[in-house]
Amino acid sequence: MKRLRLGIAGLGAASRQILSVIHKASGVELAAGADVRTEALEAFAEKHRAAVFDDVADMCRSEAVDAVWIATPNVFHAEHTVMAAEHGKHVITEKPMAVSLEEADRMVTAAACNGVKLLQGHSKVYDPPVRRMREIISSGRLGRVIHIQTMNYNNWLQRPRIASEVDTEKGGGLVYRQGPHQTDIVRCLGGGLVRSVRAVTGRWDPNFDTEGNFAAMLDFEDGAVASMSFNGYGYFDVTELTWDIGEGGYRVERRGGEERLAGPIAAQEKYQLAAKTAPSGDRMHQPFFGLTIVSCERGVIRQSPDGLYLYTQEGREQVPCGPRYGRAAELMELRAGLVEERPVFPDGSWGKATLEVCLAMLRSSKEQREIRLEHQAPCPF
Ligand SMILES: NC(=O)c1ccc[n+]([C@@H]2O[C@H](COP(=O)([O-])OP(=O)(O)OC[C@H]3O[C@@H](n4cnc5c(N)ncnc54)[C@H](O)[C@@H]3O)[C@@H](O)[C@H]2O)c1
Repeated sequence: MKRLRLGIAGLGAASRQILSVIHKASGVELAAGADVRTEALEAFAEKHRAAVFDDVADMCRSEAVDAVWIATPNVFHAEHTVMAAEHGKHVITEKPMAVSLEEADRMVTAAACNGVKLLQGHSKVYDPPVRRMREIISSGRLGRVIHIQTMNYNNWLQRPRIASEVDTEKGGGLVYRQGPHQTDIVRCLGGGLVRSVRAVTGRWDPNFDTEGNFAAMLDFEDGAVASMSFNGYGYFDVTELTWDIGEGGYRVERRGGEERLAGPIAAQEKYQLAAKTAPSGDRMHQPFFGLTIVSCERGVIRQSPDGLYLYTQEGREQVPCGPRYGRAAELMELRAGLVEERPVFPDGSWGKATLEVCLAMLRSSKEQREIRLEHQAPCPF
């Protein structure tokens, strides 16, 4: 197969993570970038030999692009995905896949009608420890899954954000932005099919009128249960419990005593700050997204600094994990799906099912009741 030529829609924080690893995905090359900000286009053109577009639609029309990575704000994921699919481009979307289930449906339909692949990107199911846990579960060695616990504490709500990122109506706040990560982890480990959700979400930072914490209980079709909790107010960081290793496998230097943010900031200020932020150091370990502990009938699994710990009647065993590719994993999966002419994972229906869980968390909290789900998709491995 010829090389897969990638265009990136939205040249902000997420795009930087993608751009730094494209070279790891063999057979993939950067072809274009699109953004509405002139400074972003200029900075991109300076660093990369690729076309620039000030309109995503123009990039989607380009003959020099085969696939588009949608890294624009959440409210644009559906519009940009449909646009790309209608021009015959394969699509990788950032999480959350969309802001509503109706949008997710439009995206899935557009991909199917135009014969292109739609991949739910930036999912923690690409993290090797999550994959390895799932492989152990699927092998049956520990019996069935009983309970999955995942928890995270970080400063998500204390990072410089523009207003739309902390506006729940626009797909902002902790549930929309970080809920998909924990949901993908527990859905993958639990087999994918969540029956119902009961959650309580909180808005306890007076300077941000959006969710900054949540606790949710997910009841799986097969009787397993998952509990997910997240606190993004920044008073405590979970890496203190994970050998100082954080998201992406980076060692985290925790500081304290920073002045708390007074609210969202102007876009110009955010992007100027981001331009000054030094890139993270080398990845030294497997990625941790908080602390995840899986209880099975005959044992327990959790992450070790570089793999997994398996606890059984025989004691504690170390299990190695596969290599980590970071954000290149999505590109490798898309290309492999095209070369091998097979479905990609996670696809649009997986992304929609994860979005359904996140929406149910918001609704459950508001209505103070359990929400039954209807659009779940199984984990295929
Ligand atoms: N911040 C992160 O670390 C991170 C990581 C992974 C994924 N994500 C996801 O990536 C997406 C983008 O988040 P981000 O943090 O990069 O935001 P960001 O604000 O840093 O970047 C978004 C970019 O999209 C551009 N943009 C806005 N409207 C546009 C339009 N109509 N057409 C073209 N470009 C447009 C903006 O100018 C900006 O450059 C979100 O879905 C988010 O959930 C963010």
